[in-house]
Amino acid sequence: MTQDGTAALSSPGNHRFEVVVVDPEQRNRMRMGMQLASYGNPGSFPNAEALIRSMDVVDPEADPSAPPRATVVVFGPEMANAHGFEQIQRLTHHRPDLAAVIVVEEMTTTLLQQAMRAGVGEAVALDGGEHALRQAVEHVGNKAAGLVTRVGSPEAAQTRGRLILSFSTKGGVGKSMVATNLAVALARRNPPRGVSLIDCDLQFGDVGVLLGIPPTQTVVDAAAAITFPDADLVKVFLGLHEESGLHVLPAPVEPSAADQVRPEEMVAIVESMLRLNDYVVADMPPHFDDSVLALLAIADDVMLVASMDIPSIKNVKIGIQTMDLMSIAGGKIHLVLNRANAKVRLDVKEVERSLGMEAEFPIPSDIAVPQSVNRGVAVVLDSPKSPAARAIEKMADVLIANNAALTAADPNGRPG
Ligand SMILES: Nc1ncnc2c1ncn2[C@@H]1O[C@H](COP(=O)(O)OP(=O)(O)OP(=O)(O)O)[C@@H](O)[C@H]1O
Ligand SMILES: [Mg+2]
Repeated sequence: MTQDGTAALSSPGNHRFEVVVVDPEQRNRMRMGMQLASYGNPGSFPNAEALIRSMDVVDPEADPSAPPRATVVVFGPEMANAHGFEQIQRLTHHRPDLAAVIVVEEMTTTLLQQAMRAGVGEAVALDGGEHALRQAVEHVGNKAAGLVTRVGSPEAAQTRGRLILSFSTKGGVGKSMVATNLAVALARRNPPRGVSLIDCDLQFGDVGVLLGIPPTQTVVDAAAAITFPDADLVKVFLGLHEESGLHVLPAPVEPSAADQVRPEEMVAIVESMLRLNDYVVADMPPHFDDSVLALLAIADDVMLVASMDIPSIKNVKIGIQTMDLMSIAGGKIHLVLNRANAKVRLDVKEVERSLGMEAEFPIPSDIAVPQSVNRGVAVVLDSPKSPAARAIEKMADVLIANNAALTAADPNGRPG
C-alpha cells in the first residue's frame, strides 16, 4: 500500500490490522493520519477507487505464506454524502477483509443509518477527539481481524459448520427461545470458528429483540448482496452479541420485506455462514414453505419443538410425517419437549408413544424464561441456574458431543 501513491506504508507488527484514511480533502487526510499515527503511517487516499487500485497491486516482497491481514478504512467527513456512501458500500460489500469507520462533521440519526447501511462499523464525530477515533478503529479492526483469521485459515477452507434448525409447524411453542439460548450456549463454549444465529422467520422474527441486538443489517440486506461473487461477504451483515461472542443476522423489521428474499438466497446466506462458523443456528417460521424445505434439506440437526398439549403434539406428528414423506429430515430430528413439566394431563411417555420417538430434550416450564424475555437477555445468561437454562446447556453439550463423535469417525468431515 502506498502513502499518497509514493512512500510505502509502514505497518506495525503489533497491530492485527492495517489502517488507511480516505477523503478527497488533503487536510482531512492529514488530520486523521496524525490522530492515527500510532498505527504506523496510515496510507492515505483521495477516494475509494485509489484505495482499491493500490490493494490490487501485488507486493513482490510480501511473504505469500503470511496470514492475511484485515484493513480498517477510516473515511473522512467529505465522504459522508450519497456519493461517498455508495463508494463505501461497494468497498465493504466486496472485501470482507475491510472494516470501515467514518468521521462525520455532525452526527445525525439519518447519517448514522446511511453509514450502517453502507457497511460502516462505527461512526465518530469530528470533534469527538483522538481517543474516540482510536477506540472505534480498535473495535472494528479487532473484529475484522478475527474474521479474516478464521476465513483465511487453511482449515476454514475445507470445513463446513453444522446447521441446527429450531423448527415446529406450530406457533408459540418456544422455537425462538430454543434457537436464541442454544446459540448463546454454543457460542459460550468458544468453538474455534465461532457460532452464528440467523432469524429465518422473516415476517415475525424476534431474535433481535430476544437478544437485545438492533436490526441494523438484516437477512434482507444480506440477500441483496449475496449474489456478489465474494462468498464470505455475509460476515459484513452479522451483528455481534457482545455477551457471548455470537454473530447474529436478524429478520427485517418490516414484515413486508420478507418477500424480497428468495429461497435460493436464503440458502446461499446460510451456506456462507456455514463456511465461516462451526455452528449455525436458524430460528424458523411456524410453517413449511420453499425456504424452510430447502433449509430442512441441508440441515444437520432439526430441533423439533413441541409443547405439552394435544394440538401441538398432533401438529408435530403431521410435521414428522411430512418430513418423512419428502425424506428430508430422516435421522436428524431431535424432539424437544418444551414446558415438559406443565401441569396438564399429558405425560411424556404418552407423547413419546404417540410420536414414535424419544423426547430427547425436555425443557421445563420456567418463570425465568418470560422474565429473561422481558429483559431482552438470553435465559442462559440472565438466569444460568434456572431449570430451563440448565436444560438448554445440556442440549448444547449433547450436540457438541455428537459433533465430536462424527469428527472422530471422519476426520476430514466436520469440525469438533
Ligand atoms: N420453557 C418455558 N417456560 C416458560 N415460558 C416459555 C418457555 N418456553 C417458551 N416460553 C414462552 O412462550 C412464549 C413463546 O415462545 P417463543 O417465542 O420462543 O415461541 P415460538 O415458537 O418462537 O413462537 P412463534 O411461532 O410466534 O415464533 C414466549 O413468551 C416465551 O417466553
Ligand atoms: Mg419465534
